[in-house]
Amino acid sequence: MRKIAIANEKGGVGKTVTVINLAAALAEQGIKVLVVDMDPQANATKGLGLDPDQQQVNVYHLINGDEGVSTEQAIVSTSWQGLDVVPSHVDLAGAEVELVDVEGREDRLSQAMDTVDGSYDFVLLDTPPSLSLLTVNVFAYAKEVIVPCQTHPYAYGALEELFDTVDAVREAINPDLHIAGIVPTFYDSRTRVSPRILERLKADERYRDLVFDTTIRVNTTIADSAEVGKPVVYYRRSSYGALDYRSLAGELLKR
Ligand SMILES: Nc1ncnc2c1ncn2[C@@H]1O[C@H](COP(=O)(O)OP(=O)(O)OP(=O)(O)O)[C@@H](O)[C@H]1O
Ligand SMILES: [Mg+2]
Repeated sequence: MRKIAIANEKGGVGKTVTVINLAAALAEQGIKVLVVDMDPQANATKGLGLDPDQQQVNVYHLINGDEGVSTEQAIVSTSWQGLDVVPSHVDLAGAEVELVDVEGREDRLSQAMDTVDGSYDFVLLDTPPSLSLLTVNVFAYAKEVIVPCQTHPYAYGALEELFDTVDAVREAINPDLHIAGIVPTFYDSRTRVSPRILERLKADERYRDLVFDTTIRVNTTIADSAEVGKPVVYYRRSSYGALDYRSLAGELLKR
C-alpha cells in the first residue's frame, strides 16, 4: 500500500485538485484508492461529491480520538468504483489547539490508520496550506510526498521550504518519509513565465530528478469539475485536465 501526501505550504498550487484527480485516474484503472482529507477547508471532500456537513463521522473524530469511533466508520464510498474517502470538516481546524498538550499528538492519524493497512493500493492525503499539526500528522503517516509546484516565480521559494520541512520530519519522526516527485501545475505555454520556470526546475540539481515529465496545464474544466463535485477524469474524459492527470497516474505507477 503506497501512502502519499500531497503537500506544499503555499496555498492554491493545485494540491487538492491533484489529490482528487490522481485518485480518480488510478481508480479508473481498477486500483483501490482511499483519499484522506486532512484540510479543514474540506475541498477534497467536496470535490469528490460529498457534503462535509452530511457526514456522521469525519477525520476530526479520528484525530481527536473519540471513543467508539472506528476508522472503518469514517470511510465513505464515493460514486466511483474503488474510490473511497475519509471526509474532512471545518471542525478539524480546532484539533490543533485541542491537542496542544497531548502527548504523541503527531501520531494520531498513524494510529487511526493502523487498521486500514492493506485494504487499499493507494492512500492519498490532502494537506492544508501551512505547516500545521495536521500536516505533521500526515507526514508522520505517509511514506512519499508529491509536491505540486505552480509554474510561477513565487512557487520556487515554497519548494525550498517544503524540502526543509520534509527533512526535519524525517529526522525527528518518520525516517521513511521522502519526496517522491514534483508536479508542475498551472502550466501555460502561451506565457513566458511558465516555460521559464519549468526549465529552471528541470535544470536545478536539487529538483531535476524529481520533476515528473507530466505537467498539469491550466484548464478551466478542472475548476468547473471541482465546483460540481466530480473528478475531471469522469466529468470531461478528454479535457486537458483529464489527459494530464491520467498521464501523471501512469508515471506514478512506474515510480
Ligand atoms: N490546472 C488547473 N487549471 C485551472 N484551474 C485549476 C487547476 N488546478 C487547480 N485549479 C483551480 O485553482 C484553485 C486552487 O486549486 P486547489 O484547490 O487544488 O489548490 P490547493 O493547493 O489545494 O489550495 P489550498 O492551499 O487552498 O488548499 C481551485 O479553484 C482549482 O479548481
Ligand atoms: Mg487544498
